[in-house]
Amino acid sequence: MANEKQYKLNTLYVATRGVEEYRASIAKYIQPGDKVLEIGCEWGTTSTLLYERCQNLVATDVSAECLVRARQMYPEVRFETLDVFNLKRAMELGADFNKMYIDVSGLSGYRSLLDVIALLEMYASAFPLEVIVIKSGSLKNFAKRCIAW
Ligand SMILES: C[S@@+](CC[C@H](N)C(=O)[O-])C[C@H]1O[C@@H](n2cnc3c(N)ncnc32)[C@H](O)[C@@H]1O
Repeated sequence: MANEKQYKLNTLYVATRGVEEYRASIAKYIQPGDKVLEIGCEWGTTSTLLYERCQNLVATDVSAECLVRARQMYPEVRFETLDVFNLKRAMELGADFNKMYIDVSGLSGYRSLLDVIALLEMYASAFPLEVIVIKSGSLKNFAKRCIAW
């Protein structure tokens, strides 16, 4: 039978559409004392904006090639390899991330809504996350059509 204990996650999910919205959210959600995990950093363009606000950042991507370039361009940022579906590896990078940014190819479009929701719930269950910002047009559209009764 359903009870309130099943609904204990308090993580706020912020759905953005497009990279401009994704990056614009940094000013609102990132403070200097945060510990931030970024997934899908590519060449580090968003990473460096996150780093300007908060130096306690681990920026990650599944592509080792992208990370080579990212490290060359932004040597001050910590870049690590991570597949977004590998939660064990994410936990090895740190247990106490309180903010997360996710922009992974394949998850931004309209056919990936269920995967996006499953991933958000998985990360919110594993880390003490206050906020996860995700670039996902499908989640944004879905959220606009939801209310909590
Ligand atoms: C649109 S790019 C990210 C752009 C970046 N966030 C920015 O603002 O410049 C998407 C990234 O997702 C990465 N990616 C794809 N599949 C992934 C996965 N399973 N886990 C982690 N990153 C992945 C790609 O390597 C690519 O760098």
